[in-house]
Amino acid sequence: MQFEPGDRRRVLPRHLRPTPAPEVFSFAIRPVEAADLPHIREIYDHFVRNSVVTLDAHTRGIPHWRDKFTLLNRLRLPFLVAVSPGGAVLGFALAQPWAGGNAYRYTVEDSIYLGPGAGGKGLGTALLQALIDACEQLGIREMVAVISDSQADASVRLHARLGFEEAGRTGRVAHRFGRDIGTLYMKRRLRPAKGRRLFGSAR
Ligand SMILES: CC(C)(COP(=O)(O)OP(=O)(O)OC[C@H]1O[C@@H](n2cnc3c(N)ncnc32)[C@H](O)[C@@H]1OP(=O)(O)O)[C@@H](O)C(=O)NCCC(=O)NCCS
Repeated sequence: MQFEPGDRRRVLPRHLRPTPAPEVFSFAIRPVEAADLPHIREIYDHFVRNSVVTLDAHTRGIPHWRDKFTLLNRLRLPFLVAVSPGGAVLGFALAQPWAGGNAYRYTVEDSIYLGPGAGGKGLGTALLQALIDACEQLGIREMVAVISDSQADASVRLHARLGFEEAGRTGRVAHRFGRDIGTLYMKRRLRPAKGRRLFGSAR
């Protein structure tokens, strides 16, 4: 029997169609390289322009990211990217010193952002866990997340999932897109490896 293009009989009934293999979401996590910075900037700026999950009101240029990259390298603090098998940057996470002053040298603030299409598949969990592991290896004792109290459910759930607990709320301190916004602090105690060198130099 001949089938013409578009002949409906060529389509197998639903119960006879092969079940498609589940889509595998693969990625690798590695330290940031200078060539990643334009992609990191693009991911971050998307959230600055379109959301209140960051309270930065202005996009950041490459010099900002280059300075951060240099600083974190100098302090030996982790700045990680997740990349697809093809090398595309899917997201990033970093740990930076919490506030100023050497008395805070055992504490870092984390920051994590994923690109379009990369959310909701476990990548945030893997990336934040990798950041925590790297900080524990460095002897860091506490990690703090500063989270917008508006439209940041994914971040709150991600941090809660990895053992962060609420440590305070500021109430309204910021104003973006015509709305008042506050910040929620979440904190997790880490299990620092012993005898590791810390950033900063105070006693
Ligand atoms: C926050 C973010 C990094 C989470 O990464 P992710 O890969 O989506 O998270 P995971 O798939 O590992 O899931 C972690 C938790 O977040 C929840 N989650 C993921 N996407 C969500 C969404 N869109 N809305 C609500 N919860 C969500 C998951 O259900 C899971 O919680 P559970 O364990 O209670 O079920 C990612 O959504 C993101 O980049 N968001 C925008 C930037 C941002 O808010 N950064 C944090 C600034 S402090």
